[in-house]
Amino acid sequence: MTLLILAGSGEAKTLVRAVAAAGLDAVASLAGATRTPAKLDVPTRTGGFGGEDGFRGYLQSANVKAVVDATHPFAHRITDRTARVCRDLALPYLQVLRPQWEPEDGDTWTFIDREEEAAPFVRPGQTVFLGTGRQTLRRFANLTDCRIICRQIDPPTGPFPFPNGQFLVGRPPFPVAEEEALFKDLSVDWLIVKNAGGAPSRTKLIAARRLGIPVLMINRPPMPDADRVQTVEAALDWIARR
Ligand SMILES: NC(=O)c1ccc[n+]([C@@H]2O[C@H](COP(=O)([O-])OP(=O)(O)OC[C@H]3O[C@@H](n4cnc5c(N)ncnc54)[C@H](OP(=O)(O)O)[C@@H]3O)[C@@H](O)[C@H]2O)c1
Repeated sequence: MTLLILAGSGEAKTLVRAVAAAGLDAVASLAGATRTPAKLDVPTRTGGFGGEDGFRGYLQSANVKAVVDATHPFAHRITDRTARVCRDLALPYLQVLRPQWEPEDGDTWTFIDREEEAAPFVRPGQTVFLGTGRQTLRRFANLTDCRIICRQIDPPTGPFPFPNGQFLVGRPPFPVAEEEALFKDLSVDWLIVKNAGGAPSRTKLIAARRLGIPVLMINRPPMPDADRVQTVEAALDWIARR
């Protein structure tokens, strides 16, 4: 069978490596959001499918027999659509979704549902560190009276969209000590993150806890009604059963 792995997360890289090692017939798909993504170990296509029709056409032309969706927990459009199309075509579909973060002792988290809800928490003159990436930056347009720092992987291709902000280029992993030093250096008052989950990117939350920095935690979007596992190992079991 040809297995389509929708990539775009750390789990996808690990899954692809294991699938390649097992010699399975698989193709990975990247959205093309990162300019220089790490190379994957199976044949990889890059870029959107061209909407739902394009996706349906691709599934047929590539003779895809099952789909594992290992995209980021906040990539809800591709996840919703893939789950729906696969259900429609009776194509086996599995989402790999790592557990979300839960606060621990010493954490000061406030949960919000949307980026736009952050503004009332921030006082004039404060410094806000966005660990949310550049794609959703424009949703923070109402953060007007503070300083905004937005970290992104690729160097910016244009100016910061608001007068009160700046980009900071950085490629993970970010060790806790480095995050702590960075937040201190920038005098960060608020950290805003998406509840992506996973140990590697939890380091910024540990640094915030140690420095007493409050966190605005953006809740995950709703997930489709579909088969779901939390780990790569469980995804490999699901694949093996097919
Ligand atoms: N959202 C985040 O916070 C975040 C963080 C880290 C990494 N990522 C990764 O970046 C990618 C884009 O994220 P997003 O939030 O923009 O996604 P999205 O809103 O769910 O999807 C937008 C469009 O991007 C294309 N797309 C998304 N993932 C794809 C994949 N793996 N292969 C081919 N096309 C894909 C599809 O285009 P067509 O309609 O043309 O098929 C989809 O309709 C995802 O793959 C995700 O895993 C996202």
